[in-house]
Amino acid sequence: MKSNRPVRGWNLQLQIAASGSEPLFLQISRAIAADIQRGRLKPGARLPGSRTLATSLGVHRNTVISAYAELASEGWIESSRASGTFIARSLPTARPRAFTRSPQQAGGRPAKPGFELRDAPGPTEPSFPAGAFAMSGGMPDVRLAPVAELARAYGRVLRRESRTVLSYAAPHGHLRLRTALAALLAEHRGLATEADDVLVTRGSQMALDLTARTLIDAGDIVAVEALGYRYAWEAFKRYGARLVPIPVDDQGLDVDALTRLIERTPVRAVYVTPHHQYPTMVTMSASRRVALLALAQRKGFAVIEDDYDHEFHYEGRPVLPLASADSAGVVVYIGSLSKILAPGVRLGYVVAPRTLLERMAVHRTYVDRQGDQAIELAVAHLLEDGTLQRCVRRTRRIYHARRDFLGAELQRKLGDTLSFRLPSGSMAIWAEVAPDVDADAWVARAFERSVVIRSARQFAFDGRSRPFVRIGFAAHEERELAEAVRRLAQVRYNAEVR
Ligand SMILES: Cc1ncc(COP(=O)(O)O)c(C=O)c1O
Repeated sequence: MKSNRPVRGWNLQLQIAASGSEPLFLQISRAIAADIQRGRLKPGARLPGSRTLATSLGVHRNTVISAYAELASEGWIESSRASGTFIARSLPTARPRAFTRSPQQAGGRPAKPGFELRDAPGPTEPSFPAGAFAMSGGMPDVRLAPVAELARAYGRVLRRESRTVLSYAAPHGHLRLRTALAALLAEHRGLATEADDVLVTRGSQMALDLTARTLIDAGDIVAVEALGYRYAWEAFKRYGARLVPIPVDDQGLDVDALTRLIERTPVRAVYVTPHHQYPTMVTMSASRRVALLALAQRKGFAVIEDDYDHEFHYEGRPVLPLASADSAGVVVYIGSLSKILAPGVRLGYVVAPRTLLERMAVHRTYVDRQGDQAIELAVAHLLEDGTLQRCVRRTRRIYHARRDFLGAELQRKLGDTLSFRLPSGSMAIWAEVAPDVDADAWVARAFERSVVIRSARQFAFDGRSRPFVRIGFAAHEERELAEAVRRLAQVRYNAEVR
């Protein structure tokens, strides 16, 4: 029930909804405060008695008494037992918190600031409707996340450790999580690390930001993959980096091209995804790895290695990170729990020389103060007792099967349109599109049918189209993948180049 009631003998218009999510007394107090702020109710004006207002509004008198108490506590009204309730003669200058949070108030906020806004940040990926097939590539299937185990661990942590996890803490992340991550990296990725070599962040995005903040001065050159990860590029640009694209091919980043660049001009850092090149999914060849590390060591630049989905490798063993062979301290290694746990949990980490990590930790203090200790400790427990590792093994088997299924479906229904090799790892297939189909138009048509895939243009540093698409397989079950491919095949004909 919603009512918009004039109060008799008094020009207050109250919008209240008995079924609203806010208690009635708050709705009433907010409506009155809004009228005061709009100037409709003047300082010194008398308010109706609680009984009168309650009768006019059809609410219990105690509701009005609570509303008045709220308004009095915020300084909007003054009451005296003898003479009644009045709008305060000197109104609060600061808007109380409760009011800034009200949806009505938010709707009335100025959309534009009263001061100049400078450069806008770069664009982010458009969000897609709930229920769409999320096949843009890197999305894991959050339905497979160990939620019951995480909830239990989180509950236990809050019950037993609330004194420590609910307090201020060091910016490096919970020691137990840093220790567990160091053990995982040592065991599975060949990184000789201890807890002090690990800084926990909120996802790799924060790790990228802290790396950029710590390393880059305005004008520094950062080499990036010419088809690559825009979110990293934007983080570097934020601190004034000049980005230079380096081609990628079926062996990953072209290290010869990087060498030529470095012969011409000093480079501060190179950002790479050597394990599963984003977005083409190729693994950097062994000779290029060796060459890249040797070049970085010789020329003294940083290699920012983004190993965002290490575990999801299906053919043979995952290739060890560049960081595992870095004896010169040139690699800043960034990892994420977004794929092995869930992107919404926001946990990532950096492994780097300790002096650099310490500086990053200080920067983190000023951005975010510290991480979420409770969730970090809960996740540490899941790593310590092997829950997360078991979950990864299970999901890897499932994603492997989904990769094969999607490959077969694409072959069956779109074999004349797409050519591709199944990737040895990662969560998406990178496929070349036949010349009679416009890849960008196809992606747009698919979006209209709630299938979200990406064309090469969306990953291209130069923003130019190329005849490739990226189709993710991890986030959906086989019957869902089949339906998505059916829709892709349907809209393919609308995207033909005429
Ligand atoms: C190249 C790359 N790096 C990192 C990430 C993970 O980001 P985050 O850890 O911030 O969720 C992704 C996720 O899609 C990615 O594609």
